[in-house]
Amino acid sequence: MDNLTSILMLFYLVVIGLSPSKIQSQITKKPTNPHPPTKHDFNIIDSCWRKNVNWANTRQSLANCAIGFGHGAIGGQKGQIYIVHDTSDDPINPNPGTLRYGATRAEPLWITFAKDMVITLKKELLVNSHKTIDGRGAKIEIAHGPCITMERVHNVIIHGLIIHDCRPGAPGLVRDRPDHMMQINGHDGDGIVVIQSFNVWIDRCHFASCGDGLIDVIHGSTNITISNSHFNDHKKVMLLGHSDTYDLDKVMKVTIVLNHFGPRLRERIPRVRYGYAHVVNNMYEPWENYAIGGSSDSTILSESNYFHASNEHKEVTKRETNDDWKKWKWMSVNDVFINGAFFRPSGLTNDVPRPSYSQTQQFKVAEGSLVPGLTSNAGALLCVPGKLC
Ligand SMILES: *[C@@H]1O[C@H](CO)[C@@H](O)[C@H](O)[C@H]1NC(C)=O
Repeated sequence: MDNLTSILMLFYLVVIGLSPSKIQSQITKKPTNPHPPTKHDFNIIDSCWRKNVNWANTRQSLANCAIGFGHGAIGGQKGQIYIVHDTSDDPINPNPGTLRYGATRAEPLWITFAKDMVITLKKELLVNSHKTIDGRGAKIEIAHGPCITMERVHNVIIHGLIIHDCRPGAPGLVRDRPDHMMQINGHDGDGIVVIQSFNVWIDRCHFASCGDGLIDVIHGSTNITISNSHFNDHKKVMLLGHSDTYDLDKVMKVTIVLNHFGPRLRERIPRVRYGYAHVVNNMYEPWENYAIGGSSDSTILSESNYFHASNEHKEVTKRETNDDWKKWKWMSVNDVFINGAFFRPSGLTNDVPRPSYSQTQQFKVAEGSLVPGLTSNAGALLCVPGKLC
């Protein structure tokens, strides 16, 4: 090979290696499982609805399926079906048929999509109370613009969206209700932000490569479940609790269950302040700095997760503080540790901070060794009406 040929080949490899289409395919790849699902494969959340071949005609029964602190989120179960067929976006006067129009209505709505679409929002989408955004049956990407915010609302389900490459928006007025607009001061480029809101369930979404966090839960939000989702290619994954001085987040209760974290995540999976997090049955691929972190006397129960460490970063935990953290209740129960991963507990060893679940929020935790299988196709499913999803 002469010099010119090898230079050309090197150039070709660099270009291909970094091409946007390669990144895109990592985000939106089809499930690789060559075997169609059988009714026995489904985890505890999925088995509530995926055993029904008729799922497309009984969409609103999904609202009964949340487990953990977000169980009470029924979204738009009691409302009409609203179909998005228009990908355009007007933050102030949204057109009927757009996602923003449906999401800002006053009445409960179960929002679905007529076809595959990429929606690039001009300002963040302010989702009103009593809404479900249900991506099943289409491939729905929210990408390349500001993404989703819930502020001072309750009872929202977000299901089956691919949320990636979220970017900051400009400050300005944005409609949040038919008769009201909110002045927003710009957006950091987060995937989903939950502010002062309760009863929220985020299920089977895919998050990657955003400007700031993939999910932030802040300002006293509570009763939240984040499940069955896939997170990859990002630095600061999930923030639970606004700041080290915002102690109203003491009320926060979040269940993080059956998610697949990785590859190429750096830290905050999640990072917790003040409130309580039950981190259970999640699959962790090697993290680049730490997995579970926090400050401000947060309480964390890490239960039956599957932690696969890299050769460089073995410790799961990180306390982001100079304070005395020995009394914080951070506990690991039945976690599986691979390649030398370890969790540094704190608090009294005989005082496991069990979640204070009500009877309806309660669920059966799976064995940690089963977690890779139970989360193997986490993220948005590509479902076809009339077939098992
Ligand atoms: C959270 O859920 C619990 C249990 O159902 C309930 O008692 C509590 O009032 C809820 N909190 C909020 C703010 O909805």
